[in-house]
Amino acid sequence: METMMQFRGKKITVGITGGIAAYKAADLVSWLYQQGAEVQVIMTKGAQEFISPLLLHSLSGQVVITDMFANDDKLHIPHIYGVDGADLLVIAPATANIMAKAAHGIADDVLSAAILAATCPILFVPAMNFHMYENIATQENMEVLRRRGYHVLEAEEGRMACGTVGKGRFPEAAVLRGAVCQMFFSQQDLAGKKILITAGPTRENIDPVRYLSNYSSGKMGYALAAAAKNRGADVTLVTGPVNLLPPQGVTMVPVVTAVEMYEAALSRYAEMDIVVKAAAVADYRVEAVATQKIKKQGETKDSIQLNLVTNPDILRALGEAKGQQYLVGFAAETENLLDNAKKKLLDKKADMIIANDVSQPEAGFNVDTNAVTLITKDDMLTLPSMDKKALAEKIWDNVIIEIQKKSK
Ligand code: PMT
Repeated sequence: METMMQFRGKKITVGITGGIAAYKAADLVSWLYQQGAEVQVIMTKGAQEFISPLLLHSLSGQVVITDMFANDDKLHIPHIYGVDGADLLVIAPATANIMAKAAHGIADDVLSAAILAATCPILFVPAMNFHMYENIATQENMEVLRRRGYHVLEAEEGRMACGTVGKGRFPEAAVLRGAVCQMFFSQQDLAGKKILITAGPTRENIDPVRYLSNYSSGKMGYALAAAAKNRGADVTLVTGPVNLLPPQGVTMVPVVTAVEMYEAALSRYAEMDIVVKAAAVADYRVEAVATQKIKKQGETKDSIQLNLVTNPDILRALGEAKGQQYLVGFAAETENLLDNAKKKLLDKKADMIIANDVSQPEAGFNVDTNAVTLITKDDMLTLPSMDKKALAEKIWDNVIIEIQKKSK
């Protein structure tokens, strides 16, 4: 992958924070410069304790930004100048502190402010003592950053400067260089596609304080939306009520009920190239939603009736109105997985059904992993259990292949 001058014409900002691995950033800066990049270095005060700005100046050929309030004509408003027009911001090494600040929007020094001001992709390269790395606060901050669409490299395992052995090491130069290359040369194979994804549960009100719903967390649909966005698509995410952060750059359409989801999906359908229905839609809603809280009926009555009526089947309606769109549905089954899923493929006129056996502990609702079989009219592919983010990539790989087959 590595060729000479592969970053000619790119501006890459390298943020260096105060960890022992700060000296390794010098290698990254030197390599980026040799590959033709315009390299702007920003250093925190902590970083300057470990490595001198003069060294980075010499390696990058640019004045290093070290101070938010520098009175320098060239570095006009340093935290803005540092990332203005940047194609990539790499924070290497990234301490627990800088990731905590980025996760919480704190901008109390030149680098944390630059992170907030950056509009380019950001790659965090964590390196720290392994107890600090494994600490729940650090893990949660990294998770927040990833959910917001930032890229956070996994630290490597090995011996650390403090004498301990564990996860937290700065990556080998080749690994870091590969990660930087991937940021520029990742597949854009969904560029130009307009994609609508539904995610999460719907809620069907019973009265002002109660509703019928299901255990969908939205993780599968949100992972599909983030992956499609990263691969260049224009993504609209119609989402039921979930507890997830919106993927960066995706158009969000929040809904609550199945009828609202139906309207949101159908009204945008004509302009879409691909629709994926990962939402768990309630099949029924309460016929007459009580306007006041339903009172307990006294000790003598031990049951009450709720009359339910059928909700619109959104996937079926999309299947019936289908023009050029490629339509993907899910099937959440607890028995006869493949037979029921194949039936849904034909009944609902979908192009692909993704069957998940939701009785399995590592699949389906409200877990981070899923195990699915992709079913089309003529083909079937069973995938092993994997993280929903990895699965989202596999699903897109296969949708693209199927669309190409269809257009031949
Ligand atoms: O959200 P997570 O916690 O990550 O969980 C993911 C998931 C299990 C919810 C997801 O992988 C999944 O399987 N989603 C579909 C769940 C479902 O409602 O399946 P179903 O077999 O009941 O419906 C089949 C298809 O018809 C689905 O694409 C569904 O969105 C669609 N449908 C169903 C009913 C309805 N009224 N309208 C619909 O469009």
